[in-house]
Amino acid sequence: MTSRANEEPASLSTLDIKPHPRGFGAAIRGVDLSQPLHARQVAEIRQAWLTHQVIYFPDQPMSHSALESFSRCFGDWGDDPYVAPIEGHEHILEIRREPDEKVSPFGGAWHSDWSFQACPPSATILHAKEVPPVGGETWYADGYAAYEALPALEQHKLEALTAIHSARRPYSHEGYQAGRGPERSMRIMPSDKAYETQRHPLIRTHPETGRKALWVNAVYTIGILELAEEGARKLLKRLCEYATESRFIYRHRWSNDMLTMWDNRSVQHCAQGGYNGYRRILHRTTLAGDRPH
Ligand code: SIN
Repeated sequence: MTSRANEEPASLSTLDIKPHPRGFGAAIRGVDLSQPLHARQVAEIRQAWLTHQVIYFPDQPMSHSALESFSRCFGDWGDDPYVAPIEGHEHILEIRREPDEKVSPFGGAWHSDWSFQACPPSATILHAKEVPPVGGETWYADGYAAYEALPALEQHKLEALTAIHSARRPYSHEGYQAGRGPERSMRIMPSDKAYETQRHPLIRTHPETGRKALWVNAVYTIGILELAEEGARKLLKRLCEYATESRFIYRHRWSNDMLTMWDNRSVQHCAQGGYNGYRRILHRTTLAGDRPH
């Protein structure tokens, strides 16, 4: 694992980590993310991320290079296709929606980032630049809790299945993001590559925690290898609805300069609307992940 952390001074205090009541999500204070992190801070943040899955740091003004340095403390860069990065910063995407924009928010359906890749990202990191006074939350669904709440027999059955993931629904030339260029302030780049598919286990074992998660999402999971089309469609619909029931959800409210980092290997998320008339801007990086198993 890459570490860009600094040597630790004796006086370094531990982080103030406030987990949510169910343990899914935690607020972290007591660290300045605009400065280089010490090895112990990186280790504590990493542990909090693995334990609570979605961690957030309020009040952290950060430059592009500070966001890049923070991100690289936790791994190598992920590969971000289909969306043009910020000029001069090839690993930062700008999630932007203007006050008069009519198209639905980018990321506005439940998904795990780039789950159509052979090795989808381990982490996504978002830094809030301009947050609307209403709406614009990001909702997160806990894939561990969804798996653990299933009856043992169903867990066992689902563990034998292979999900097929693809970027075709949003990012092919016929996809719902294609041809909307003039209406959207983000530059989306549809491609024939979006028709490619990847097979991933429907129940994923986390490579670091060893916990199992239900790992399907409504945007990128398009089939199940072992089932005929209609059976797969019905099962996926049921599982996607189940995985995003309110008991598994954390509704994240943003504030300016908040940094949030989540574990894509167990969490899916969905950007909410409700802020027409206001601008919303967040900067995003992803970190490389493993092949799901
Ligand atoms: C995303 O899907 O990465 C965007 C999430 C958001 O804008 O809330």
